[in-house]
Amino acid sequence: MTAYGCLSLRADECLQAARADVGVVDGPFEYLTVGGIRLPLPFTTRMTVVRLSNGDLFLHSPIKFDERLAMELQGVGRVRHLVSPNQFHYAHIGEWARAFPETITWASPRVRRRARVRHVDVDFTRDLNAIAPEEWRSEIDQLLFPGGYFKEFVFFHKTSSTLILTDTIINLELDKISEPWRTAAKLTRMYHPYGQIFFGMRLPLLFQRRKAKAAIEKIDSWQPQRIVLSHGRWFDADADEVISRVFRAPPHRRQLS
Ligand SMILES: [Fe+2]
Repeated sequence: MTAYGCLSLRADECLQAARADVGVVDGPFEYLTVGGIRLPLPFTTRMTVVRLSNGDLFLHSPIKFDERLAMELQGVGRVRHLVSPNQFHYAHIGEWARAFPETITWASPRVRRRARVRHVDVDFTRDLNAIAPEEWRSEIDQLLFPGGYFKEFVFFHKTSSTLILTDTIINLELDKISEPWRTAAKLTRMYHPYGQIFFGMRLPLLFQRRKAKAAIEKIDSWQPQRIVLSHGRWFDADADEVISRVFRAPPHRRQLS
């Protein structure tokens, strides 16, 4: 059914132009808030869109709602699944759900609590689980990647052999970000082309080696060819080498195997 490609275009253009079933849409920069105070720390936002064979759209980490984007997406499918892959990526799901009342909103662990504490108006109708739900099981597989507080669901789109990550690997493009992120990215090597495990997951993963090993083995079994992620440059090819480097190469070999 599908050719895969054109990740560099907006998802709607990508899906239409290349008849691909996976695309990304980058949203506006957003800002960290602590205790209700907005800090001058912009971070990138990105939504990954998968079109299922029945025409339903799976919106992973929806970006800020935008009427024009919503209309364009309707041109390529039915907005159906609004997915929070981890407790940090959920803020705009309520906006999309109000615009598309027929959608199913999928909760990640702890996200309901986080939304409530932060007074974000969103109702989650279903919980993500270690087993992919019937709605997309034949086309997308999933697992819960450990990382303590930062654990997240990762997905694998079978037809395009695409691994869909959120924060597990960060690969920031230095020319697209400003300080202090640039320095932080360099210090932690979370920048293109050296993308690395999100800094905050590294310590928890030391204590969850068995779970991490099992998760990586399952990812290996999928044999992904490409990796899409939420922050920074995606990997168009050689996903196996990236996974090997990030999860097994020193110093991570000592951590995760
Ligand atoms: Fe993130």
